[in-house]
Amino acid sequence: MKTAEMQAALVYDPSDPAVMADPFPVYARLREEDPVHWSPSLKSWIVTRYTDVRDLLLSDHLSVNRLMKFYTALPPQDAVLLRDIIHYLNLWLAFRDPPDHTRLRRIMRHAFTADAIEQMRPNIEEITDHLLDRLEAGGGDRIDLIREFAQQLPAYVIMDLLDVPRDMLGAFKEWSDDMAIFIGGARNSDDKYERAARGCRLMSGYFRDLVAQRAANPRPGFLMDLINARDEGDKLSDDELVATCILILFAGNETTTNLIGNATLMLLRHPGELARLRADPALIDSAIEEVMRFDGPTNALVRVVAEDHHLHGRDLKEGERVFVMVNSANRDPRIFDNPDVFDITRRQNRHLTFGQGIHLCMGAKLAREEGRIAVQKLFDRFPALALDPEEGPEWLDAMVPRGTRRLPLRLRG
Ligand code: HEM
Repeated sequence: MKTAEMQAALVYDPSDPAVMADPFPVYARLREEDPVHWSPSLKSWIVTRYTDVRDLLLSDHLSVNRLMKFYTALPPQDAVLLRDIIHYLNLWLAFRDPPDHTRLRRIMRHAFTADAIEQMRPNIEEITDHLLDRLEAGGGDRIDLIREFAQQLPAYVIMDLLDVPRDMLGAFKEWSDDMAIFIGGARNSDDKYERAARGCRLMSGYFRDLVAQRAANPRPGFLMDLINARDEGDKLSDDELVATCILILFAGNETTTNLIGNATLMLLRHPGELARLRADPALIDSAIEEVMRFDGPTNALVRVVAEDHHLHGRDLKEGERVFVMVNSANRDPRIFDNPDVFDITRRQNRHLTFGQGIHLCMGAKLAREEGRIAVQKLFDRFPALALDPEEGPEWLDAMVPRGTRRLPLRLRG
């Protein structure tokens, strides 16, 4: 009876501003009291313990292929409007189960080599310096780190990777914001489907032309590697290539923005750890890993139940949605010592922020490189960088990404 009462009182409301600012107390309760929680408002399961999250990401009981169910339930006029965007998203390996996923991943592996990412390093440094020069030259003291730095850095890196000219940034941002309605993080609006369809039409048209141009005038680089990528006589079709360019743009942008934003915020909120990093800059790699664990960019991953099964006494039924709560898993005291302590020298840090199993992030090396360079150069350039005492961070109202929409800072303390 006592347990039932406790569970009845346990409500997880991710849009509650207090939960947005600090979801970790409710995650701790969920892990202890109801590790496989049914959320009536989200109509989904919420799984919060580390071993469950890891095992579910590794298991065949869950599927990433959730688009067709959504599409077939749409009214006919919306289905027509969204046909193209669903077509492209369905070609993303992120939404495919084996064997399609296995084939796409094997082909894409040829472009995501350690060498290709290594070659990006001078480029990331140049982009970071350029953005910091601009901030410095601006002369002002108050900035929004997200808009003026953390969004632009990964966007330019991915655009360079895909051979998109940098002056396309504004157009790309608009198209991806319009498409983001399907990919998590975006707020609802009345014309959301029209905007998503338009964003997809413009973005896919752009990439289709770009791929055709590059194929006609080959030039070494990641895009060319993607065009050439072959696996046992098989290669990406034209539509798969366009879809993959869009996927890379999405997968590598907001996630890395949130890594840079969260890292800056965590270090400023923990001055002792920032001082340790300043005293020993070689700690930057473990500091970035600790940000990923402590309050990383992956709040949750989404799956659907592929096969009925039981977990902690709950029945998960085919077709039901599951939020696999990565940031909660990363604070599970069964796995991490003192999980609520932000410790940039932490050694045992097997966080799940890049996922687990067959869908493990393909861009993890690039993301780590960007995070490391951005944070190091930002704090070097502005040694008195501080939180804005008059305006706190504004967190994203979203279930999957975790980061700030705005992060007001004082550049000169
Ligand atoms: C801090 C930054 C990043 C984080 C936290 C992150 C996180 C993730 C996670 C959790 C997944 C697995 C999704 C799932 O299982 O449903 C994933 C997949 C993926 N990521 Fe990342 N990512 C980041 C940056 C990047 C970058 C920079 C790129 C590419 C340039 C990238 C490319 C991909 C791709 C292609 C996949 C799909 C892999 C598959 O489905 O097999 N990511 N990422």
